[in-house]
Amino acid sequence: MANVTFSSPLMPRDVTVYAVAGERGTLLALAKEHHIPIPFDCQDGECGSCLVEVVHYHPGVRYGIALTEKEKEILRQLGKITKQEIMDAEVNDMPPRHRLACQCFVRNEDIAVVFEGDVTKPVKGPALSIAAAIYKGGVGIRTLDQFLSYAVKVEEDAALHFENLAEKMKSCGNEDVAALFSQLGGYSRLHLQEARAKCTRYEVVEHLPASSAWPDHATPEQTALWAADPALTRLGALKAALQGERRGYEFYYAIAHTTRDATIRTVAREFVREEAEHVEKLKLWIAQEEAALRRSSDTVAG
Ligand code: FES
Repeated sequence: MANVTFSSPLMPRDVTVYAVAGERGTLLALAKEHHIPIPFDCQDGECGSCLVEVVHYHPGVRYGIALTEKEKEILRQLGKITKQEIMDAEVNDMPPRHRLACQCFVRNEDIAVVFEGDVTKPVKGPALSIAAAIYKGGVGIRTLDQFLSYAVKVEEDAALHFENLAEKMKSCGNEDVAALFSQLGGYSRLHLQEARAKCTRYEVVEHLPASSAWPDHATPEQTALWAADPALTRLGALKAALQGERRGYEFYYAIAHTTRDATIRTVAREFVREEAEHVEKLKLWIAQEEAALRRSSDTVAG
């Protein structure tokens, strides 16, 4: 039997739960089961959303762990693991102070689990271009139906665009980037589902006016890439995708800050928050890609 005490400024008070044999899974699974609001996203050790601090009540009773490379790398990128902790984990199987709740298994030891909230989320949104800040988007939105219809169009076009790029990359033999674009297309499909779910929630019938052309004939989240470049790297593809996500963020931000309709403003703000998360996620992926490239060039040089 393990006592696990969850503590966070997000909760009115600490909550202790008892994990009994047979019920033990990850800390995140235990938290979800007991409605503890540890933030999470990928649930696969890749996004860092579920960062927690684990304090052992009886430091002598500490089980060894095999810290995976994936978790170690994310903790390193978040600045939550020291060189000494990396060495302790590698040499002595000792767990570091911070863990990813989705990667940390509950053992027969009493612990406190402290979390702040999602540290991968931006404290404030990404920087805006001047055009977005004063809104020269050229898309007039008068009703919630129109706004959500535009939102669905933005997400749908992004999915089709990535899928199209994936096909083109595959046909020119760049399988690595083709796989990445397919993955980005998959995420855009999820975002499309979320936009459609909002349509259902607000009982909106999707409909765009016949004159709904975008100023530059491309919806905001599309990248600047149109043709297949066989030499495009994963890093280049991620940076192009980041530009698209930033434009998506700016589009929703502009709507949220110019509309006079309170409901449109509320829903647009939801999109702003979600787009800010997408931007941060892509920035994390870019940092991971750059770190991997640095490591491989160090290996070649060594
Ligand atoms: S939920 Fe993404 S790392 Fe745990």
